[in-house]
Amino acid sequence: MAKIRTQYVCQNCGYNSPRYLGRCPNCGEWNTLVEEQVEAGNNATKKATTTLTGLVAKPQKINEIDSKQTPRVKTKLNELNRVLGGGIVPGSLILIGGDPGIGKSTLLLQVSGQLSDEHHRVLYVSGEESGSQIKMRAERLKVAGDDFYVYPETNMDSIRDTIRELKPEYVVIDSVQTMQATDVSSAIGSVSQIREVTAQLMQIAKSNNITIFVVGHVTKGGALAGPKILEHMVDTVLYFEGDLHHTYRILRSVKNRFGSTNELGIFEMHTNGLSEVKNPSEIFLEERLKDATGSSVVVSLEGTRPILVEIQALVTPTVYGNAQRTATGLSRNRVSLIMAVLEKRANLMLQNQDAYLKAAGGVKLDEPAIDLAIAVSIASSYRDKGTQPTDAFVGEVGLTGEIRRVNRIEQRVAEAEKLGFKRIFIPKNNLKGWTPSTGIQVVGVSTLKEALYLALG
Ligand SMILES: Nc1ncnc2c1ncn2[C@@H]1O[C@H](COP(=O)(O)OP(=O)(O)O)[C@@H](O)[C@H]1O
Ligand SMILES: [Mg+2]
Repeated sequence: MAKIRTQYVCQNCGYNSPRYLGRCPNCGEWNTLVEEQVEAGNNATKKATTTLTGLVAKPQKINEIDSKQTPRVKTKLNELNRVLGGGIVPGSLILIGGDPGIGKSTLLLQVSGQLSDEHHRVLYVSGEESGSQIKMRAERLKVAGDDFYVYPETNMDSIRDTIRELKPEYVVIDSVQTMQATDVSSAIGSVSQIREVTAQLMQIAKSNNITIFVVGHVTKGGALAGPKILEHMVDTVLYFEGDLHHTYRILRSVKNRFGSTNELGIFEMHTNGLSEVKNPSEIFLEERLKDATGSSVVVSLEGTRPILVEIQALVTPTVYGNAQRTATGLSRNRVSLIMAVLEKRANLMLQNQDAYLKAAGGVKLDEPAIDLAIAVSIASSYRDKGTQPTDAFVGEVGLTGEIRRVNRIEQRVAEAEKLGFKRIFIPKNNLKGWTPSTGIQVVGVSTLKEALYLALG
Protein backbone atom coordinates (compact mmCIF):
# COMPACT_ATOMS: atom_id res chain seq x y z
CA MET A 1 0.00 0.00 0.00
CA ALA A 2 1.51 3.29 -1.07
CA LYS A 3 1.73 6.04 1.46
CA ILE A 4 -0.84 8.79 1.11
CA ARG A 5 0.60 12.27 1.22
CA THR A 6 -1.26 15.55 1.36
CA GLN A 7 -0.31 18.48 -0.78
CA TYR A 8 -1.85 21.79 -1.68
CA VAL A 9 -2.33 22.41 -5.37
CA CYS A 10 -3.13 25.74 -6.99
CA GLN A 11 -6.30 25.26 -9.03
CA ASN A 12 -5.25 28.04 -11.32
CA CYS A 13 -1.74 27.15 -12.37
CA GLY A 14 -1.05 23.71 -10.92
CA TYR A 15 1.68 24.83 -8.50
CA ASN A 16 1.95 22.55 -5.50
CA SER A 17 3.12 23.18 -2.03
CA PRO A 18 3.46 20.95 1.04
CA ARG A 19 1.54 23.43 3.19
CA TYR A 20 -1.37 25.77 2.76
CA LEU A 21 -0.68 29.23 1.38
CA GLY A 22 -3.20 32.02 1.00
CA ARG A 23 -1.63 33.22 -2.19
CA CYS A 24 -0.05 31.11 -4.88
CA PRO A 25 3.61 32.14 -5.18
CA ASN A 26 3.64 31.01 -8.81
CA CYS A 27 0.68 32.78 -10.38
CA GLY A 28 -0.18 35.24 -7.63
CA GLU A 29 -3.85 34.24 -7.33
CA TRP A 30 -5.47 34.27 -3.91
CA ASN A 31 -7.25 31.34 -2.30
CA THR A 32 -6.57 28.93 -5.11
CA LEU A 33 -4.66 26.29 -3.15
CA VAL A 34 -6.75 23.23 -2.44
CA GLU A 35 -5.81 20.20 -0.41
CA GLU A 36 -5.27 17.11 -2.56
CA GLN A 37 -4.05 13.68 -1.65
CA VAL A 38 -1.45 11.88 -3.68
CA GLU A 39 0.10 8.52 -3.23
CA ALA A 40 3.76 9.00 -2.49
CA GLY A 41 5.96 7.67 -5.26
CA ASN A 42 3.16 7.82 -7.79
CA ASN A 43 3.87 10.96 -9.65
CA ALA A 44 1.20 11.40 -12.26
CA THR A 45 3.10 13.72 -14.53
CA LYS A 46 6.28 11.68 -14.43
CA LYS A 47 4.38 8.61 -15.50
CA ALA A 48 2.61 10.49 -18.23
CA THR A 49 5.75 11.74 -19.93
CA THR A 50 7.46 8.41 -20.04
CA THR A 51 4.54 6.77 -21.81
CA LEU A 52 3.39 9.72 -23.83
CA THR A 53 3.97 8.29 -27.24
CA GLY A 54 4.15 4.65 -26.28
CA LEU A 55 7.37 4.36 -28.26
CA VAL A 56 10.92 3.80 -27.24
CA ALA A 57 12.56 6.50 -29.28
CA LYS A 58 16.16 7.26 -30.08
CA PRO A 59 17.64 10.25 -31.85
CA GLN A 60 17.37 10.14 -35.61
CA LYS A 61 18.66 12.34 -38.40
CA ILE A 62 15.88 14.60 -39.61
CA ASN A 63 16.56 13.66 -43.23
CA GLU A 64 16.01 10.02 -42.44
CA ILE A 65 12.64 10.39 -40.77
CA ASP A 66 9.67 9.30 -42.88
CA SER A 67 7.15 12.05 -43.24
CA LYS A 68 3.95 10.13 -43.36
CA GLN A 69 1.39 12.48 -44.75
CA THR A 70 -1.82 11.20 -43.30
CA PRO A 71 -4.71 12.84 -45.05
CA ARG A 72 -6.99 14.94 -42.91
CA VAL A 73 -10.49 13.70 -42.36
CA LYS A 74 -13.02 16.23 -43.48
CA THR A 75 -16.22 16.47 -41.50
CA LYS A 76 -19.43 17.61 -43.12
CA LEU A 77 -19.17 20.85 -41.19
CA ASN A 78 -16.86 22.98 -43.29
CA GLU A 79 -16.65 25.59 -40.58
CA LEU A 80 -15.23 23.00 -38.21
CA ASN A 81 -12.76 21.81 -40.84
CA ARG A 82 -11.57 25.33 -41.33
CA VAL A 83 -11.01 25.90 -37.63
CA LEU A 84 -9.09 22.64 -37.39
CA GLY A 85 -6.82 23.77 -40.22
CA GLY A 86 -8.47 21.78 -42.99
CA GLY A 87 -9.93 18.75 -41.27
CA ILE A 88 -9.24 16.37 -38.42
CA VAL A 89 -5.68 15.11 -38.09
CA PRO A 90 -5.94 11.43 -37.11
CA GLY A 91 -4.52 10.71 -33.67
CA SER A 92 -4.85 14.24 -32.36
CA LEU A 93 -6.23 15.35 -29.04
CA ILE A 94 -8.66 18.21 -29.48
CA LEU A 95 -9.96 20.21 -26.55
CA ILE A 96 -13.21 22.13 -26.89
CA GLY A 97 -13.93 24.68 -24.20
CA GLY A 98 -16.92 26.92 -23.67
CA ASP A 99 -19.58 28.18 -21.31
CA PRO A 100 -22.25 25.77 -20.12
CA GLY A 101 -25.11 25.46 -22.59
CA ILE A 102 -23.19 26.97 -25.47
CA GLY A 103 -23.47 23.77 -27.51
CA LYS A 104 -20.30 21.74 -27.00
CA SER A 105 -22.15 18.47 -26.54
CA THR A 106 -24.45 19.31 -29.43
CA LEU A 107 -21.54 19.99 -31.78
CA LEU A 108 -19.68 16.84 -30.83
CA LEU A 109 -22.79 14.69 -31.05
CA GLN A 110 -23.44 15.99 -34.55
CA VAL A 111 -19.85 15.46 -35.61
CA SER A 112 -19.90 11.95 -34.13
CA GLY A 113 -23.06 11.14 -36.05
CA GLN A 114 -21.58 12.38 -39.29
CA LEU A 115 -18.35 10.49 -38.81
CA SER A 116 -20.22 7.27 -38.09
CA ASP A 117 -22.35 7.88 -41.18
CA GLU A 118 -19.11 7.71 -43.12
CA HIS A 119 -18.26 4.35 -41.58
CA HIS A 120 -15.94 5.54 -38.88
CA ARG A 121 -16.42 3.97 -35.48
CA VAL A 122 -17.17 6.54 -32.80
CA LEU A 123 -17.33 6.17 -29.04
CA TYR A 124 -19.09 8.96 -27.19
CA VAL A 125 -18.22 8.87 -23.51
CA SER A 126 -20.40 11.06 -21.36
CA GLY A 127 -19.87 11.75 -17.71
CA GLU A 128 -22.69 14.25 -17.63
CA GLU A 129 -25.65 12.64 -19.28
CA SER A 130 -27.23 9.22 -19.23
CA GLY A 131 -27.59 7.07 -22.32
CA SER A 132 -31.27 7.91 -22.68
CA GLN A 133 -30.63 11.64 -22.36
CA ILE A 134 -28.07 11.42 -25.13
CA LYS A 135 -30.48 9.39 -27.19
CA MET A 136 -33.16 12.05 -26.76
CA ARG A 137 -30.79 14.71 -27.99
CA ALA A 138 -29.59 12.48 -30.81
CA GLU A 139 -33.18 12.06 -31.97
CA ARG A 140 -33.71 15.80 -31.92
CA LEU A 141 -30.53 16.32 -33.92
CA LYS A 142 -31.37 13.38 -36.18
CA VAL A 143 -28.10 11.71 -35.36
CA ALA A 144 -28.06 7.99 -35.90
CA GLY A 145 -25.26 5.95 -37.44
CA ASP A 146 -24.59 2.29 -37.18
CA ASP A 147 -21.14 2.48 -35.73
CA PHE A 148 -21.91 5.04 -33.07
CA TYR A 149 -21.51 3.93 -29.47
CA VAL A 150 -22.69 5.89 -26.45
CA TYR A 151 -21.06 5.16 -23.14
CA PRO A 152 -22.05 6.91 -19.90
CA GLU A 153 -18.95 6.38 -17.77
CA THR A 154 -16.51 8.41 -15.70
CA ASN A 155 -13.89 5.87 -14.70
CA MET A 156 -10.77 6.14 -16.85
CA ASP A 157 -9.82 2.48 -16.39
CA SER A 158 -13.17 1.31 -17.75
CA ILE A 159 -12.93 3.82 -20.56
CA ARG A 160 -9.47 2.59 -21.52
CA ASP A 161 -10.63 -1.04 -21.48
CA THR A 162 -13.63 -0.19 -23.61
CA ILE A 163 -11.49 1.65 -26.13
CA ARG A 164 -9.17 -1.34 -26.32
CA GLU A 165 -12.10 -3.68 -26.94
CA LEU A 166 -14.16 -1.52 -29.28
CA LYS A 167 -11.26 -0.03 -31.25
CA PRO A 168 -13.02 3.19 -32.22
CA GLU A 169 -11.38 5.69 -34.56
CA TYR A 170 -12.89 8.63 -32.73
CA VAL A 171 -13.59 9.13 -29.07
CA VAL A 172 -15.49 11.99 -27.48
CA ILE A 173 -14.93 12.67 -23.78
CA ASP A 174 -17.69 14.87 -22.40
CA SER A 175 -16.21 16.34 -20.16
CA VAL A 176 -12.67 16.07 -18.82
CA GLN A 177 -13.79 17.55 -15.49
CA THR A 178 -16.13 14.63 -14.83
CA MET A 179 -13.59 11.86 -15.54
CA GLN A 180 -11.76 10.07 -12.81
CA ALA A 181 -8.37 8.42 -12.90
CA THR A 182 -8.38 5.82 -10.15
CA ASP A 183 -4.73 6.16 -9.22
CA VAL A 184 -5.15 9.80 -8.23
CA SER A 185 -7.10 10.09 -5.04
CA SER A 186 -7.98 13.77 -5.19
CA ALA A 187 -11.50 14.90 -6.00
CA ILE A 188 -12.98 14.70 -9.49
CA GLY A 189 -12.41 17.95 -11.32
CA SER A 190 -9.33 18.92 -9.31
CA VAL A 191 -6.14 19.92 -11.04
CA SER A 192 -4.36 16.63 -10.34
CA GLN A 193 -7.28 14.65 -11.71
CA ILE A 194 -7.62 16.74 -14.85
CA ARG A 195 -3.92 16.53 -15.49
CA GLU A 196 -3.80 12.78 -15.06
CA VAL A 197 -6.95 12.19 -17.12
CA THR A 198 -5.58 14.35 -19.94
CA ALA A 199 -2.21 12.60 -19.81
CA GLN A 200 -3.93 9.24 -20.10
CA LEU A 201 -6.09 10.43 -22.98
CA MET A 202 -3.01 11.77 -24.74
CA GLN A 203 -1.35 8.43 -24.37
CA ILE A 204 -4.39 6.58 -25.72
CA ALA A 205 -4.62 8.97 -28.67
CA LYS A 206 -0.96 8.81 -29.64
CA SER A 207 -0.32 5.13 -29.16
CA ASN A 208 -3.45 3.92 -30.95
CA ASN A 209 -3.84 6.73 -33.47
CA ILE A 210 -7.30 7.55 -32.16
CA THR A 211 -8.62 11.07 -32.45
CA ILE A 212 -10.02 12.23 -29.14
CA PHE A 213 -12.28 15.22 -28.66
CA VAL A 214 -12.30 16.44 -25.09
CA VAL A 215 -14.87 18.84 -23.69
CA GLY A 216 -13.53 21.22 -21.07
CA HIS A 217 -15.58 23.53 -18.91
CA VAL A 218 -14.61 27.12 -18.55
CA THR A 219 -14.62 29.13 -15.36
CA LYS A 220 -16.50 32.36 -14.83
CA GLY A 221 -13.52 34.33 -16.03
CA GLY A 222 -13.61 32.48 -19.33
CA ALA A 223 -10.45 30.42 -18.84
CA LEU A 224 -10.54 26.67 -19.08
CA ALA A 225 -11.22 25.22 -15.67
CA GLY A 226 -8.10 23.56 -14.42
CA PRO A 227 -4.70 24.95 -15.08
CA LYS A 228 -3.17 26.18 -18.30
CA ILE A 229 -1.40 22.84 -18.27
CA LEU A 230 -4.44 21.34 -19.95
CA GLU A 231 -3.96 23.61 -22.95
CA HIS A 232 -0.27 22.79 -23.14
CA MET A 233 -0.86 19.08 -23.21
CA VAL A 234 -3.36 18.82 -26.04
CA ASP A 235 -2.76 19.36 -29.77
CA THR A 236 -5.58 21.72 -30.48
CA VAL A 237 -7.66 24.02 -28.32
CA LEU A 238 -10.95 25.31 -29.64
CA TYR A 239 -13.23 27.71 -27.83
CA PHE A 240 -16.92 27.69 -28.49
CA GLU A 241 -18.36 31.06 -27.68
CA GLY A 242 -21.26 33.32 -28.36
CA ASP A 243 -24.04 35.06 -26.60
CA LEU A 244 -26.58 32.67 -25.11
CA HIS A 245 -29.27 35.13 -26.12
CA HIS A 246 -28.25 35.00 -29.74
CA THR A 247 -28.39 31.95 -31.92
CA TYR A 248 -24.92 32.47 -33.36
CA ARG A 249 -22.03 30.47 -32.04
CA ILE A 250 -18.41 31.07 -32.83
CA LEU A 251 -15.80 28.37 -32.77
CA ARG A 252 -12.35 29.81 -32.38
CA SER A 253 -9.03 28.04 -32.44
CA VAL A 254 -6.57 29.35 -29.88
CA LYS A 255 -3.95 26.66 -30.24
CA ASN A 256 -3.40 24.36 -33.14
CA ARG A 257 -0.37 22.19 -33.75
CA PHE A 258 -1.67 21.43 -37.23
CA GLY A 259 -3.02 24.71 -38.50
CA SER A 260 -3.24 28.42 -38.02
CA THR A 261 -4.81 29.83 -34.90
CA ASN A 262 -7.38 32.55 -34.59
CA GLU A 263 -9.40 30.83 -37.26
CA LEU A 264 -13.14 31.24 -36.85
CA GLY A 265 -16.07 28.99 -37.59
CA ILE A 266 -19.54 30.39 -37.31
CA PHE A 267 -22.62 28.34 -36.58
CA GLU A 268 -26.23 28.94 -35.87
CA MET A 269 -28.08 26.98 -33.19
CA HIS A 270 -31.49 25.63 -34.17
CA THR A 271 -33.81 23.08 -32.57
CA ASN A 272 -32.34 20.46 -34.84
CA GLY A 273 -28.76 21.35 -34.06
CA LEU A 274 -25.98 23.56 -35.28
CA SER A 275 -25.84 24.62 -38.87
CA GLU A 276 -23.06 26.43 -40.64
CA VAL A 277 -23.20 30.08 -41.46
CA LYS A 278 -21.65 30.42 -44.89
CA ASN A 279 -21.61 34.17 -45.11
CA PRO A 280 -21.20 35.64 -41.65
CA SER A 281 -20.78 39.24 -42.75
CA GLU A 282 -24.35 39.32 -44.03
CA ILE A 283 -25.64 38.20 -40.67
CA PHE A 284 -23.67 40.66 -38.66
CA LEU A 285 -24.93 43.50 -40.83
CA GLU A 286 -28.48 42.24 -41.24
CA GLU A 287 -30.13 44.32 -38.55
CA ARG A 288 -28.24 47.49 -39.18
CA LEU A 289 -30.26 50.71 -39.23
CA LYS A 290 -29.28 52.59 -42.34
CA ASP A 291 -29.31 56.17 -41.06
CA ALA A 292 -28.41 55.71 -37.42
CA THR A 293 -25.70 57.74 -35.81
CA GLY A 294 -22.91 56.07 -33.87
CA SER A 295 -22.62 53.17 -36.25
CA SER A 296 -19.82 52.18 -38.57
CA VAL A 297 -18.68 49.00 -40.21
CA VAL A 298 -15.25 47.46 -39.88
CA VAL A 299 -13.70 44.67 -41.92
CA SER A 300 -12.13 42.60 -39.22
CA LEU A 301 -9.88 39.75 -40.08
CA GLU A 302 -10.41 36.71 -37.96
CA GLY A 303 -7.90 34.06 -38.88
CA THR A 304 -7.83 33.94 -42.64
CA ARG A 305 -11.33 35.18 -43.16
CA PRO A 306 -12.49 38.78 -43.23
CA ILE A 307 -15.76 39.53 -41.49
CA LEU A 308 -17.71 42.74 -41.62
CA VAL A 309 -19.05 43.81 -38.26
CA GLU A 310 -20.98 46.86 -37.22
CA ILE A 311 -19.52 48.81 -34.34
CA GLN A 312 -22.05 50.83 -32.42
CA ALA A 313 -21.41 53.68 -30.04
CA LEU A 314 -23.71 55.68 -27.86
CA VAL A 315 -22.20 58.79 -26.34
CA THR A 316 -24.32 60.72 -23.87
CA PRO A 317 -23.56 63.44 -21.31
CA THR A 318 -22.64 61.91 -18.01
CA VAL A 319 -25.07 62.21 -15.12
CA TYR A 320 -22.72 61.39 -12.30
CA GLY A 321 -19.38 63.00 -11.73
CA ASN A 322 -17.18 60.48 -13.49
CA ALA A 323 -17.87 59.35 -17.01
CA GLN A 324 -18.54 55.70 -17.72
CA ARG A 325 -17.11 53.62 -20.52
CA THR A 326 -18.74 50.30 -21.28
CA ALA A 327 -17.77 47.97 -24.07
CA THR A 328 -19.39 44.74 -25.22
CA GLY A 329 -17.37 42.55 -27.54
CA LEU A 330 -14.54 45.09 -27.55
CA SER A 331 -11.80 45.74 -25.09
CA ARG A 332 -12.60 48.54 -22.67
CA ASN A 333 -8.98 49.61 -22.56
CA ARG A 334 -8.95 50.01 -26.30
CA VAL A 335 -12.09 52.12 -26.15
CA SER A 336 -10.66 54.34 -23.40
CA LEU A 337 -7.47 54.79 -25.36
CA ILE A 338 -9.27 55.75 -28.54
CA MET A 339 -11.46 58.19 -26.63
CA ALA A 340 -8.37 59.82 -25.20
CA VAL A 341 -6.86 60.11 -28.67
CA LEU A 342 -10.09 61.59 -30.01
CA GLU A 343 -10.08 64.12 -27.25
CA LYS A 344 -6.49 65.17 -27.63
CA ARG A 345 -5.98 64.86 -31.39
CA ALA A 346 -9.40 65.53 -32.84
CA ASN A 347 -10.70 68.02 -30.29
CA LEU A 348 -13.74 66.06 -29.19
CA MET A 349 -14.76 66.95 -25.64
CA LEU A 350 -15.40 63.46 -24.37
CA GLN A 351 -14.32 63.67 -20.75
CA ASN A 352 -17.80 64.47 -19.49
CA GLN A 353 -19.51 61.95 -21.74
CA ASP A 354 -20.55 58.39 -21.01
CA ALA A 355 -19.75 56.01 -23.82
CA TYR A 356 -21.29 52.63 -24.53
CA LEU A 357 -19.66 50.58 -27.26
CA LYS A 358 -20.81 47.35 -28.79
CA ALA A 359 -19.75 45.00 -31.54
CA ALA A 360 -23.14 44.02 -32.93
CA GLY A 361 -24.20 40.39 -33.19
CA GLY A 362 -22.37 39.06 -30.13
CA VAL A 363 -18.91 38.75 -31.71
CA LYS A 364 -15.74 39.58 -29.87
CA LEU A 365 -13.22 41.63 -31.82
CA ASP A 366 -9.66 41.99 -30.76
CA GLU A 367 -7.35 43.31 -33.40
CA PRO A 368 -5.92 46.79 -33.88
CA ALA A 369 -7.56 47.26 -37.28
CA ILE A 370 -10.92 47.93 -35.62
CA ASP A 371 -9.66 51.16 -34.03
CA LEU A 372 -10.70 53.49 -36.80
CA ALA A 373 -14.26 52.19 -36.85
CA ILE A 374 -14.50 52.59 -33.08
CA ALA A 375 -13.29 56.18 -33.37
CA VAL A 376 -15.69 56.97 -36.20
CA SER A 377 -18.66 55.51 -34.30
CA ILE A 378 -17.84 57.49 -31.18
CA ALA A 379 -17.41 60.70 -33.13
CA SER A 380 -20.59 60.04 -35.09
CA SER A 381 -22.63 59.55 -31.95
CA TYR A 382 -21.04 62.49 -30.16
CA ARG A 383 -21.67 64.87 -33.02
CA ASP A 384 -24.99 63.24 -33.84
CA LYS A 385 -23.97 62.90 -37.44
CA GLY A 386 -24.56 59.66 -39.30
CA THR A 387 -21.96 57.85 -41.38
CA GLN A 388 -22.70 56.79 -44.94
CA PRO A 389 -24.27 53.31 -44.75
CA THR A 390 -22.04 52.21 -47.64
CA ASP A 391 -18.77 53.20 -45.95
CA ALA A 392 -16.41 50.78 -44.23
CA PHE A 393 -13.40 51.53 -42.05
CA VAL A 394 -10.12 49.78 -41.41
CA GLY A 395 -7.09 51.08 -39.55
CA GLU A 396 -5.16 51.13 -36.34
CA VAL A 397 -5.16 54.38 -34.39
CA GLY A 398 -1.85 55.46 -32.88
CA LEU A 399 -1.42 57.66 -29.84
CA THR A 400 -0.45 60.68 -31.90
CA GLY A 401 -3.64 60.37 -33.89
CA GLU A 402 -2.03 58.71 -36.89
CA ILE A 403 -3.72 55.87 -38.77
CA ARG A 404 -1.36 52.93 -38.87
CA ARG A 405 -0.97 50.18 -41.39
CA VAL A 406 -2.89 46.90 -40.96
CA ASN A 407 -2.27 43.45 -42.43
CA ARG A 408 -4.02 41.75 -45.36
CA ILE A 409 -5.55 44.91 -46.74
CA GLU A 410 -6.46 43.46 -50.13
CA GLN A 411 -8.59 40.76 -48.61
CA ARG A 412 -10.41 43.24 -46.43
CA VAL A 413 -11.15 45.59 -49.29
CA ALA A 414 -12.34 42.71 -51.46
CA GLU A 415 -14.74 41.52 -48.77
CA ALA A 416 -16.21 45.01 -48.35
CA GLU A 417 -16.68 45.25 -52.09
CA LYS A 418 -18.32 41.84 -52.21
CA LEU A 419 -20.92 42.97 -49.71
CA GLY A 420 -21.79 46.05 -51.67
CA PHE A 421 -19.84 48.73 -49.84
CA LYS A 422 -19.06 51.73 -52.02
CA ARG A 423 -16.23 53.30 -50.09
CA ILE A 424 -13.61 52.07 -47.67
CA PHE A 425 -11.24 54.11 -45.53
CA ILE A 426 -7.86 52.51 -45.06
CA PRO A 427 -4.47 53.66 -43.76
CA LYS A 428 -2.62 55.69 -46.38
CA ASN A 429 0.47 53.54 -45.97
CA ASN A 430 -1.56 50.53 -47.00
CA LEU A 431 -2.15 51.98 -50.47
CA LYS A 432 1.32 51.06 -51.69
CA GLY A 433 2.14 47.92 -53.58
CA TRP A 434 -1.23 46.86 -54.93
CA THR A 435 -4.01 48.15 -57.12
CA PRO A 436 -7.47 48.18 -55.65
CA SER A 437 -10.40 47.04 -57.73
CA THR A 438 -12.46 49.69 -59.45
CA GLY A 439 -15.70 48.49 -57.85
CA ILE A 440 -15.03 50.27 -54.59
CA GLN A 441 -13.58 53.66 -53.78
CA VAL A 442 -10.53 53.25 -51.59
CA VAL A 443 -9.64 56.27 -49.50
CA GLY A 444 -6.24 56.37 -47.83
CA VAL A 445 -6.11 58.42 -44.64
CA SER A 446 -3.09 59.28 -42.55
CA THR A 447 -4.62 60.93 -39.48
CA LEU A 448 -7.70 60.44 -37.40
CA LYS A 449 -8.72 64.05 -37.94
CA GLU A 450 -8.59 63.62 -41.68
CA ALA A 451 -10.63 60.40 -41.52
CA LEU A 452 -13.32 62.02 -39.41
CA TYR A 453 -13.46 65.02 -41.71
CA LEU A 454 -13.89 62.85 -44.81
CA ALA A 455 -16.35 60.44 -43.24
CA LEU A 456 -18.52 62.77 -41.18
CA GLY A 457 -17.85 66.17 -42.66
N1 LIG B 1 -35.20 21.24 -27.40
C1 LIG B 1 -34.34 22.16 -27.80
N2 LIG B 1 -34.59 22.92 -28.84
C2 LIG B 1 -33.72 23.83 -29.27
N3 LIG B 1 -32.54 24.05 -28.74
C3 LIG B 1 -32.21 23.32 -27.70
C4 LIG B 1 -33.08 22.33 -27.17
N4 LIG B 1 -32.46 21.76 -26.14
C5 LIG B 1 -31.28 22.37 -26.03
N5 LIG B 1 -31.11 23.30 -26.97
C6 LIG B 1 -29.98 24.17 -27.18
O1 LIG B 1 -28.81 23.44 -26.90
C7 LIG B 1 -28.02 24.14 -25.95
C8 LIG B 1 -27.35 23.16 -25.02
O2 LIG B 1 -26.28 22.66 -25.70
P1 LIG B 1 -25.26 21.65 -25.07
O3 LIG B 1 -24.63 21.01 -26.24
O4 LIG B 1 -25.90 20.81 -24.05
O5 LIG B 1 -24.26 22.63 -24.37
P2 LIG B 1 -22.94 22.29 -23.56
O6 LIG B 1 -22.62 20.86 -23.80
O7 LIG B 1 -21.94 23.24 -24.16
O8 LIG B 1 -23.22 22.62 -22.15
C9 LIG B 1 -28.97 25.02 -25.22
O9 LIG B 1 -28.34 26.19 -24.78
C10 LIG B 1 -30.00 25.34 -26.25
O10 LIG B 1 -29.61 26.48 -27.00
MG1 LIG C 1 -22.64 19.30 -22.42
